[in-house]
Amino acid sequence: MFNYQAPTSLLKDRVILVTGAGDGIGRAAAKCYASHGATVVLAGRTVKKLEQVYDEIEASGAPQPAIIPINLEGAAAHEYETLAATLEQEFGRLDGLLNNAGVLGQRTPIENYDPCIWNQVMQVNLNAQFYLTQALLPLLQQSDDGSIVFTSSGVGRKGRAFWGAYAVSKFALEGFAQVLADELEGLGTLRVNCINPGATRTSMRAFAYPAENPAALATPESIMPLYLYLMGPDAKGVTGHSIDAQGNGSPASLQGGQ
Ligand SMILES: NC(=O)c1ccc[n+]([C@@H]2O[C@H](COP(=O)([O-])OP(=O)(O)OC[C@H]3O[C@@H](n4cnc5c(N)ncnc54)[C@H](OP(=O)(O)O)[C@@H]3O)[C@@H](O)[C@H]2O)c1
Repeated sequence: MFNYQAPTSLLKDRVILVTGAGDGIGRAAAKCYASHGATVVLAGRTVKKLEQVYDEIEASGAPQPAIIPINLEGAAAHEYETLAATLEQEFGRLDGLLNNAGVLGQRTPIENYDPCIWNQVMQVNLNAQFYLTQALLPLLQQSDDGSIVFTSSGVGRKGRAFWGAYAVSKFALEGFAQVLADELEGLGTLRVNCINPGATRTSMRAFAYPAENPAALATPESIMPLYLYLMGPDAKGVTGHSIDAQGNGSPASLQGGQ
């Protein structure tokens, strides 16, 4: 397990947007960032879940979060522009973007894969992340230590039978992160990296592996050290990497770019 230990003030005064902040890993990340001093923008499609996370953060005494409802499957271009304009007006910059929301789609051979589900998975897991990231780039470049994190998967590095559009979308995200990191290298301080959470106890994992004992899996809270590290000042200059949240990477081995 990545063993980075963050001071409680690590993200003080930072504004960080988390997609899929209402559940699973995104929920844990939003609460963890808030507890380390960040103002967290909770983005997602189920407002009730976002409100619950909002209430928990507020009750903890962390900086007051914000909620931005967005359905990444159907959002039109103007919704991303509105989202960026709202953040610009409210905060004037963005210090972190955690592209976390995702869907699993079908677990079936390519031969049988439903094209509608294929499109839905590619829309949420890839296209929407392009739209959102592109819309927020100017705001992220206003930060003096900005960080973009994409959420990959083991099947986004080595293809596996029956993982269909999910695996393909994660391969594409890895490529997207590399292209963007390379474009931004030398242009400022904005860094771009991928996290592979590894098997983690969430609804998505339970859906993918119904026979598995969830108690044997890492909790979302336990994989937060890497999520913190990449959002905070200790990761300055770390860009173009894809890192396992449950691996043995060390911050020292990551310095110095790609
Ligand atoms: N858990 C694992 O073992 C594992 C392993 C490797 C990678 N990952 C990746 O980690 C990320 C988080 O997964 P998780 O395990 O935490 O899954 P999860 O518990 O199912 O959470 C997924 C989140 O994405 C949101 N979301 C889904 N479709 C959306 C849409 N159309 N618009 C906006 N938000 C949407 C969900 O919102 P609702 O709550 O409204 O449904 C939910 O908050 C995903 O990218 C996943 O691929 C997970």
